[in-house]
Amino acid sequence: MASKLSAPLRRRLKKAARLAAKSSYSPYSKFRVGAAILTGSGKIFTGCNVENASYGLCNCAERTAIFTAAAAGERIVKAVAVYTPTATPTSPCGACRQVINEFGPDALVISICDSAETIETTLDQLLPHAFGPANLR
Ligand code: THU
Repeated sequence: MASKLSAPLRRRLKKAARLAAKSSYSPYSKFRVGAAILTGSGKIFTGCNVENASYGLCNCAERTAIFTAAAAGERIVKAVAVYTPTATPTSPCGACRQVINEFGPDALVISICDSAETIETTLDQLLPHAFGPANLR
């Protein structure tokens, strides 16, 4: 399971999420989010939230990272790290949980922030009984 991620890999993933938040385009919410995902090939892909003047078109950091990885041919998400420059960690929104499920139903999900508080869980815990690819087979 992905929760058996080595300490160095965990550190790299968290660092990548922190760095990704620097690119956040969030002029409306002013809520910067960075995400990093570890894929089946062992690569790390990152993303940030990208907002739009038409608010409903805003894209979350997690989905930016996953879509970038998918577009590069990746099909397995082993772990997701989310960083927000806040006092408490931010858990992926419902839409992002569904998108993570597509490629990472067993993914480890780590949320970090600017305090020592973290959330470490799994996608299965965040989205139990998920609707996914198997339902369409
Ligand atoms: N946001 C994310 O990027 N990830 C989440 O999991 C929660 C919300 C973004 C979307 C929007 O740009 C801003 O945070 C405020 O909702």
